[in-house]
Amino acid sequence: MVTMRRRFKGENTRAVHLPAPPVPAQTPTAPPVWRTSGFAFAGAQEHADLVHQGGGYLYSRVDNPTADAFAQAVAALEGATVADVAAQAFASGMAAVSAVFLAFTKAGAHVVAPLALYGGTFDLLQEIFGRFGVAADFVDMTDLEQVRAAIRPTTRVVWAETLSTPTMSVADLPALANLAHARGALLAVDSTVATPVLCRPLEYHVDLVVHSATKYFGGHGDATGGVVCGRRELVEKIRRVRIMTGGQLAPDEAFLLRRGLETLPLRVRRQCDSASQFAAAIAKHPAVKAVDYPGLTGHPGHRLARRLFDEGPEGTRFGAVVTVTPHGGRDAGLAFADALRLARSATSLGGTHTSVGHVGTTSHAGRDDAALLRAGIDPGAVRFSIGLEDAADLIADATDALDVVARVTARRAEAPIGA
Ligand SMILES: Cc1ncc(COP(=O)(O)O)c(C=O)c1O
Repeated sequence: MVTMRRRFKGENTRAVHLPAPPVPAQTPTAPPVWRTSGFAFAGAQEHADLVHQGGGYLYSRVDNPTADAFAQAVAALEGATVADVAAQAFASGMAAVSAVFLAFTKAGAHVVAPLALYGGTFDLLQEIFGRFGVAADFVDMTDLEQVRAAIRPTTRVVWAETLSTPTMSVADLPALANLAHARGALLAVDSTVATPVLCRPLEYHVDLVVHSATKYFGGHGDATGGVVCGRRELVEKIRRVRIMTGGQLAPDEAFLLRRGLETLPLRVRRQCDSASQFAAAIAKHPAVKAVDYPGLTGHPGHRLARRLFDEGPEGTRFGAVVTVTPHGGRDAGLAFADALRLARSATSLGGTHTSVGHVGTTSHAGRDDAALLRAGIDPGAVRFSIGLEDAADLIADATDALDVVARVTARRAEAPIGA
């Protein structure tokens, strides 16, 4: 007897069960956005095999082809000269940072991290991991003796920032890797501000490299994401955490972040060149107390940056964040940020537009002047993320703003006490 396959005729059924989209045999020139939460299988057996054995796409929180395309692109850049590098993409830089501590610490473990650490990571270690019994010591990472002394038998992770804002200090990655490995700890670094254009920490035996992709990778301030790269066996542990905590990067964001990588070297090199010109010019203004930029020969990280950062055809690049401190303390810093017209007060960094933030009231808000000074940050410091505008215009904008600050500071100094 021949059994006829039933044809389902209901209009809603037909509307929902539209023909499947074509999956082309040819490679698309731009990667598709695989905006799907799940995948369908040829039958129950294939479904069961994938659940139990892996080896294919099942559910986008677990793996998504667009998120994988982004992660693999970052692994290719960070692992340009190192074998067997893998990466996992995350919904934000902080999701990526959290995954490292979730994967490699447990109650009773200890972490060593920089005193001038990115505020989000500092809060995470203090407020969340502290509550689960993970202790953290914050030290001056540029003083290797302090790092050595802080490492305990329970230290599992030494955390550093390749380039640390706002001081723009440079981490001695090979020396830190030696210190951490000698005591059985991993060295994980946040390399958001350096990007693989300046430095690829895996080449210096760093175990894990983390980025907020929200910054230079996306580069246009329109996508949020994060990524962790490193040796495959370590990254597999990170993947397990990502799957269980649900930190997966969304496909639309993954598309934008991957596209951003195609112009990363062009943007970052140009931004670094403008930052160098900006730092050198602004340091000469009489209203300026200090400029923190490792491209300036007087910066404590200058020689180390020359040793560790790529020497491109036109010489070493030193990053595109410049911290400018006018004379006059906290009020002068706020007045300076306010008087800028081209550089706008905005969160985030690494975008096409130059952005600024008065450090003491933004990224390091909540710390009084004494606490800021202990972390090596002047209460008047203003952090510039140099964008793609013309350097001459950025210098003119900052010069005009500093002239305003100088006039205000001079008037205050002349005013009779109590006026
Ligand atoms: C150095 C650094 N690391 C991590 C982060 C966190 O990244 P996200 O905001 O993408 O979570 C930031 C954000 O400002 C950052 O500047």
